[in-house]
Amino acid sequence: MKRAKITVIGAGNVGATCAQYCAMAGLGDVYLLDIPVTKDMPKGKALDITEAAPVLGFSGSVHGTTDYADTVNSDVIVVTAGIPRKPGMSRDDLLATNAKIVGSVGEQIKATSPNAVVIVVSNPVDTMVQRMCDVTGFPHERVIGQAGVLDASRFCAFIAMELGVSVQDVHAMLLGGHGDSMVPLASCASVSGIPVTQLISKERLAEITQRARVGGGEIVNLLGTGSAYYAPAASSMKMVKAIVNDENRVLACVAYCDQEYSVGGYYVGVPVVLGDGGVKKIVSLDMTLEEKALFAKSCEAVRTNVANMKEVLAKAQN
Ligand code: NAI
Ligand code: 2OP
Repeated sequence: MKRAKITVIGAGNVGATCAQYCAMAGLGDVYLLDIPVTKDMPKGKALDITEAAPVLGFSGSVHGTTDYADTVNSDVIVVTAGIPRKPGMSRDDLLATNAKIVGSVGEQIKATSPNAVVIVVSNPVDTMVQRMCDVTGFPHERVIGQAGVLDASRFCAFIAMELGVSVQDVHAMLLGGHGDSMVPLASCASVSGIPVTQLISKERLAEITQRARVGGGEIVNLLGTGSAYYAPAASSMKMVKAIVNDENRVLACVAYCDQEYSVGGYYVGVPVVLGDGGVKKIVSLDMTLEEKALFAKSCEAVRTNVANMKEVLAKAQN
């Protein structure tokens, strides 16, 4: 059976850790690419990860490169290229810089890996996925974003901490944009099938939901420099795994929705069936009236960001 070719673009915190997790999970041949600022940096990180294999007992290796020729015909590409936020910044403050970076990365992907499924991680992710789709011209099902796996994971972690139960037994779903207006769905969260609404009081659940919403900011403030990367990298790896193993996982991903959830042609976080070729289906679910209102507000934030990006790019062209 052919081994999957997986490329991670951006060998910074999220990218290098994602490459490491993909290699450890034996998902395929992993390539780690960065710009030649210090030309051998991706090679150094890739070799370092590979040298951990004998100790940790995995057989995958990672190849570092600054040349897209090495990544040609990748099956899956994870895009982490871009700047992360600093304390006091929102994800939206990254828009102008990252739109340029993601645009240039998209041109290279289009030229070298025309059949790849592209998972965008760079922030603000909902807008950057749109940018990647515009630049590559790939079909919507092959251009997606990572956000909901991470945000749902944070929500699950907080529920497990609250109840003192294994995170393995906690499941949660989350919709909307990857900003502080995201919508963790308390109505869909459960512990071994028991709705969390039966286990945690309404008031406490509201506090936990809010912590999940601003979970990225909590890490930014704790780190003092840069943003979260272990959980984001693990979440990206989970999406890569679903695709290369054709797992048909139901995961919250940033996916293109038109009629779906009445979004009207934007990329937002929704549950999808993820497998070979990318998004196979967008899953519909019922929300409470309150959740519907919050989702509409979150989608509005994404629309505003996309409009801002178009303005920024138009100005840059003039
Ligand atoms: P980082 O600064 O550690 O790494 C970014 C890397 O991108 C750097 O090594 C840089 O040289 C590289 N890069 C810049 N321009 C490039 C280009 N044109 N081609 C290839 N590589 C390029 O940042 P970190 O922490 O890895 O975060 C990366 C991005 O991911 C940020 O925008 C951050 O906000 C976002 N992020 C998104 C998450 C999500 O859930 N969607 C979660 C965590 C981070
Ligand atoms: C996060 O949620 C920065 O988007 C990133 O941690």
